[in-house]
Amino acid sequence: MQHIQSYISDHKERFLNELLELLKIPSVSADPAFKDDVIKTANAIKNSLEEAGCDRVEVCETKGYPIVYGEKIIDKNLPTVLVYGHYDVQPADPLDLWDSPPYEPVIKKTDIHPEGAIFARGACDDKGQMFMHVKALEFMTKTNQLPCNVKFMIEGEEEVGSVSLSAFVKENREKLQNDVILISDTGMIAQDVPSITTGLRGLSYVEVEVTGPNRDLHSGLYGGAVANPINILTKMIASLHDENNHITIPGFYDKVEELSEAERAEMAKAPFSLEAYKNALDIDAVYGEKGYTTNERNSIRPTLDVNGIWGGYTGEGAKTVIASKAFAKISMRLVPHQDWENITELFQMHFERIAPKGVRVKVKPHHGGQGYVTPIDSVGYQAASKAYEDTFGKKPIPQRSGGSIPIVALFEEELKSKTILMGFGLNSDAIHSPNEHFGVWNYFKGIETIPLFYKYFTELSA
Ligand code: BES
Ligand code: MN
Ligand code: MN
Repeated sequence: MQHIQSYISDHKERFLNELLELLKIPSVSADPAFKDDVIKTANAIKNSLEEAGCDRVEVCETKGYPIVYGEKIIDKNLPTVLVYGHYDVQPADPLDLWDSPPYEPVIKKTDIHPEGAIFARGACDDKGQMFMHVKALEFMTKTNQLPCNVKFMIEGEEEVGSVSLSAFVKENREKLQNDVILISDTGMIAQDVPSITTGLRGLSYVEVEVTGPNRDLHSGLYGGAVANPINILTKMIASLHDENNHITIPGFYDKVEELSEAERAEMAKAPFSLEAYKNALDIDAVYGEKGYTTNERNSIRPTLDVNGIWGGYTGEGAKTVIASKAFAKISMRLVPHQDWENITELFQMHFERIAPKGVRVKVKPHHGGQGYVTPIDSVGYQAASKAYEDTFGKKPIPQRSGGSIPIVALFEEELKSKTILMGFGLNSDAIHSPNEHFGVWNYFKGIETIPLFYKYFTELSA
């Protein structure tokens, strides 16, 4: 029977080229200008799933972008793995900060990726990682080594909140029935430090608007005499954290689970260099909630961050003006048990309450989702752990991530199955940023590790 390494070396060029072709299509879900390209990408995924050996592949229409569904059922008595991924990408801008055009993928060597990395929007998040699963399936079907049933569900709206997928999951519980969900849309600690993501943060995303006088005013004639919406907005935002960087919204921490000292000590064992972290970001100090380490601040603790702020005059030169309105977009990353809709309400009530006389405040909720944690004693985690041990030569470390994939909590609620997050990206891969990339080594490591997950999951489930 052919081994995965020999299959990869026989098909290496093609495996790379097929991914590069996919990366050439700008499937930006946020911007309607890319609509045709998003749909074109869905069709390309459909074709690749058929070629990889799925028996039934459909492009399922939704109110938004289609969901590509494919399956290969070999025996109803065997377990079923459901693979989830997304074919949409974040907008590429600011374009001038890219060293090469975002939709003209190139492979370049970097310090961390001496074997080369693919530079393109979506290379790591999530086309490259999703495509590892398609190629792993191809290997298993073409060499008769698929040990169980497999279903694929690849969506095109992850980067804009997975709205259509929520409805699709609720309407297709039967069809999506599975024993474990497998996703590669997260990261790992370092090339030589494999890790499995055991937690994701939830999210509440809001936009705020502060209105003062009914028109923009001369800042000399009116300055000092009326509330300036930008001054007020920044003051309100600043008050959302206290001197210890705790969030001041009443009730915000009520549901937050404090980890035991033992759990925190376990977390602290993960290799981490504060110096390297600061150097990579060109900062002279880290910053955050008092009483917690950097890794705790960005995973097990909730946060509040302004993502954008605007108002008044920002053009060339100076204009003396007091703007009538000021705006900000604010995201709150949440931890398991914090309910995102409840947090959105608490934010709204607090923000309206702290507004001084002289301005009016509007809070507009955008999207959100619940956080997720998964135990390490499940069959799925154990199977993944064994797979990594085989391909990396060491046991992977469980790690809670700071990012969000809101649909994962919904999967558990609706489909009653656990999700295993086998991510092969690195934090330095610059997802959502200019010059996003994905290591060629990581791509093939993923393709090599995934079939072993299927094998161990089937064995351990028997
Ligand atoms: N793949 C990311 C999430 C991620 C990345 C989790 C790295 C863990 C490690 C996903 O595509 C994403 O960007 N999610 C958004 C939320 C979504 C609702 C827009 C996020 O985390 O900001
Ligand atoms: Mn993603
Ligand atoms: Mn993303």
